Amino acid sequence: MIDLATIKADGEVEAIMNMAESQIRALGITEHSRRHAGIVSKWSGEILRGLGADEERIRLAEIAGYLHDIGNCINRADHAQSGALLAYNILTRLGMDSRSAAEIMMAIGNHDEQYGTPVSDVSSALIIADKADVHKSRVKKEIRDIRDADIHDRVNLAAERSYLTVEEGAITLHIQIDDKMCSVMDYFEIYFVRMKLCRKAAKFLGCRFSLEINGTVLI
Ligand SMILES: [Fe+2]
Ligand SMILES: [Fe+2]
Repeated sequence: MIDLATIKADGEVEAIMNMAESQIRALGITEHSRRHAGIVSKWSGEILRGLGADEERIRLAEIAGYLHDIGNCINRADHAQSGALLAYNILTRLGMDSRSAAEIMMAIGNHDEQYGTPVSDVSSALIIADKADVHKSRVKKEIRDIRDADIHDRVNLAAERSYLTVEEGAITLHIQIDDKMCSVMDYFEIYFVRMKLCRKAAKFLGCRFSLEINGTVLI
């Protein structure tokens, strides 16, 4: 059976992820390394587990979460679509059945807020898990003055901790921010498009989506 351990041990996956990390470093954008891949994989699986999905769906979500950003090894633009095709080829080469590999391809191809739409339980879990990973450690460049930081860096720099809770009928993203760096309302403004997509994804899963920042429920 192809599981997350099989994917992590594969040399082709390793080479592609290394190249993706080097491209992201060269572009100077927010960290998209194995740390991010590991967190998104874990949370994608936990969302479906929390909603009572069977182990097979959880396994697909974990793999989709781990591989979702491998398209960054080709180009940041359209990385969701290119990564989806790469993932399908890797998974079928490893012996995964075509239907399961296609499920993962579809989820990866829909994870980005620009063109993504929640189209399955796996893709919905992946969207929410990906957008939930905000943390100051994701900012890799040295920023001397917070006013010089771009929008993604500002949001991530302010984030001390983020985590998801999944209860029956409700998925909540909790974020702890340093409000000296970024106000709660700034945060909300920056994250509005992403949160709209999370809300759609939660709806696909039969849930409400809430965003809680520093203990205040914003949506
Ligand atoms: Fe992505
Ligand atoms: Fe991502």
